[in-house]
Amino acid sequence: MRQRPRRLRGNQGLRRLVQETELMPRMLIQPLFVVDGIDGPRPIDSMPGQFHQSMESLLISCAAAADLGLGGVILFGIPASKDATGSQSWASNGIIQRACQRIKAEFGSRLLVIADLCLCEYTDHGHCGLVNDGRIDNDQTLEIYGRIAASQAAAGADVVAPSGMMDGQVGAIRDALDQEHFSQTPIMAYAAKYASAFYGPFREAAASTPRSGDRRSHQMDPANAREALREIRLDEAQGADMVMVKPALAYLDVLARARAVTDLPLGAYNVSAEYSMVKAAAQLGWVDERAIILELLTGIRRAGADFILTYHALEVGQWLGHG
Ligand code: PBG
Repeated sequence: MRQRPRRLRGNQGLRRLVQETELMPRMLIQPLFVVDGIDGPRPIDSMPGQFHQSMESLLISCAAAADLGLGGVILFGIPASKDATGSQSWASNGIIQRACQRIKAEFGSRLLVIADLCLCEYTDHGHCGLVNDGRIDNDQTLEIYGRIAASQAAAGADVVAPSGMMDGQVGAIRDALDQEHFSQTPIMAYAAKYASAFYGPFREAAASTPRSGDRRSHQMDPANAREALREIRLDEAQGADMVMVKPALAYLDVLARARAVTDLPLGAYNVSAEYSMVKAAAQLGWVDERAIILELLTGIRRAGADFILTYHALEVGQWLGHG
């Protein structure tokens, strides 16, 4: 037989030589939840191995991320008090601003800090934007997003990552950053973000479940893929520096199509329920946890992601060793 694909699978050296996809710590971003007013880490029940962090415990996780050479951390802030406009989100002494300041003071360029930029953790109604007459007011929300971006950049965030899915958010944030002399701060856009049931555990973690209604008026319909490409093109045109598809696993086709239409660095968010399902199956002894996680993350990379936001980042970083 002339063609025998097995020839290249015969030993470790051959397999290593022809391996197409690689997973390295620098490609992994660990999401971290920092909570105002607690004095130690508290486990998040629906996400085994993840914690609500106090400022001090956050710094310990950041030290691990820096030592392992992870791509970075993405921070979610949970304020002590919420209100209708989510005013703690742009306060100069807000939880996420203080966290950025502390991490930058401690680790400097050893750790990339990305600030998630949304209102849902900060509003008492739990929506991602300002609500007028029971509807999210897209254009008023843009002005607030601009303020949040400037405050995060001023606090030292290396990257801002708008996740609210308001139309025009990337352009509004770019304008606000440029005006406040943060023209060098990149925007990582949650460009194609779906209205997904896979965010369930996160909403418990971030206390961000909307009090009424859902997010289907701004997040995308899981049935649509072409629309994702349109969102990516729009974010590119508005000045996004990196784009993202979210969630990851049920959307690998979208990721592959996104890879084909954009030359920007492309990320995928391996979201909370994707993490929790694996952890639950592992706790039941039904799957080989480590092998499953490495295979899933390799699959996300193979589909086209340059980098992956994943709750597995710290543990996988340990398994892979310093990359
Ligand atoms: C919004 C935001 C959400 C997630 C990241 N940013 C929740 C939402 O849109 O409801 C979900 C992440 C996850 O499930 O891991 N700030």
